[in-house]
Amino acid sequence: MKGLINHDDISRVLVSEQEIQKRIRELGEELSRDYADLDGEIVLICILKGAVMFFADLARCINLHLQMEFMGISSYGNEQKTSGIVRITKDIDTSITGKHVIIAEDIMDSGLTLSHLMKLLSSRSPASLKICCLLDKPSRRECDITPDYCGFEIPNEFVVGYGLDYNGFLRNLPYVGVLKPCVYCAEE
Ligand code: IMP
Ligand code: MG
Repeated sequence: MKGLINHDDISRVLVSEQEIQKRIRELGEELSRDYADLDGEIVLICILKGAVMFFADLARCINLHLQMEFMGISSYGNEQKTSGIVRITKDIDTSITGKHVIIAEDIMDSGLTLSHLMKLLSSRSPASLKICCLLDKPSRRECDITPDYCGFEIPNEFVVGYGLDYNGFLRNLPYVGVLKPCVYCAEE
């Protein structure tokens, strides 16, 4: 993919820029309320690369002292289907033992990636561990997991934008949209 982004490649905008920002403000307020009186430090973890936009906007809507950490993961599988076997490509730089950890993720699909990540991070004995994801496709779930905080439930369609990619591209769209199937075909 190269040159100008052709917004006609998107069949429909699923969540607009305005809707995303409004919902993130609500999530920020909710998290600020829920964590305000807790003892212990708070760590907000960005799961790279998909959560980068969500994380940056969410962090600015949370009115609490917190540390921002980044974790790179790569899961074995292909673009449409994750195996849930997660390899850490970049670990967080701080200990989370005894701290309140909030994972910021772009989307929960089968749930396998986050389920694996929860096991991994809980083995480091945080005081609490919660998931905050922008999007949720509940109809695709393959394991028993639900996000503690969620921006939007969406139908079973492959979406791009606001961090979510197709073959590494289109993460920089300011909205979440459904990619036209003809775009996949042209690439193949
Ligand atoms: P899960 O393990 O099946 O829940 O997959 C989660 C990961 O798959 C996300 O972090 C995304 O990187 C990717 N993913 C799932 N659905 C989509 C989508 O519709 N568009 C782009 N990436 C997706
Ligand atoms: Mg991805």
